[in-house]
Amino acid sequence: MPLIQVIVGSTRPGRFADKPVAWLADRLGRRDDFDLEILDLRDHPLPFFDQAVPPARSLRDYPDENVARLGQTIERADGFIIVTSEYNHGYPASLKNAMDHVFAEFNRKPVAFVGYGNVGGARAIEQLRLVVVEFEMAPLRHAIHILPELMIAARQADPFSPELFSSLDQRLDTVVADLLWWAAALGAARALPARA
Ligand SMILES: Cc1cc2nc3c(=O)[nH]c(=O)nc-3n(C[C@H](O)[C@H](O)[C@H](O)COP(=O)(O)O)c2cc1C
Repeated sequence: MPLIQVIVGSTRPGRFADKPVAWLADRLGRRDDFDLEILDLRDHPLPFFDQAVPPARSLRDYPDENVARLGQTIERADGFIIVTSEYNHGYPASLKNAMDHVFAEFNRKPVAFVGYGNVGGARAIEQLRLVVVEFEMAPLRHAIHILPELMIAARQADPFSPELFSSLDQRLDTVVADLLWWAAALGAARALPARA
């Protein structure tokens, strides 16, 4: 069974991220065709990048125990859904800092995106698509963009219910179908002998 990880990019107190993540956990938790893990970067305290050797060269050998644990967590996933905010038209530094700490663990795996903000996080997602290519990942064409109207409704709801995002359910089904196809294809390819 493939393992899909939802990576929570924002770590700030009071983050909006918890709402789309609650919706994803609710919807994806009902599925029985893959396993789901939430990778909350708050659970992985990291320094501002200070490793002496670039992770693309150290290849899973990390002196920092938190980095090693993050790497082992990412290693076991077959595909990812990155939940990203947009800060000044880019992705959050917390997400990029975490990604920079590892490398091989992401290689040849697919990634989909859920963004939110004034343009549904579209600018952050476009930038992330460029970043993940360097990780030899396959960024999906389809993404989920949560626009301000839904963000306002979600912020005002007390308590928040995943039903508030039900208009996105169909889109999520499309994204997940695509992600699972790529996870199967690349999982089979990763099992082949390593390239020279
Ligand atoms: C430093 C900073 C920069 C921001 N820049 C943008 C932006 O460029 N585009 C946008 O749509 N929202 C922007 N926002 C508003 C965020 O969309 C909003 O604060 C959102 O809740 C951030 O996600 P988070 O709460 O999960 O961290 C910015 C927020 C912060 C804190």
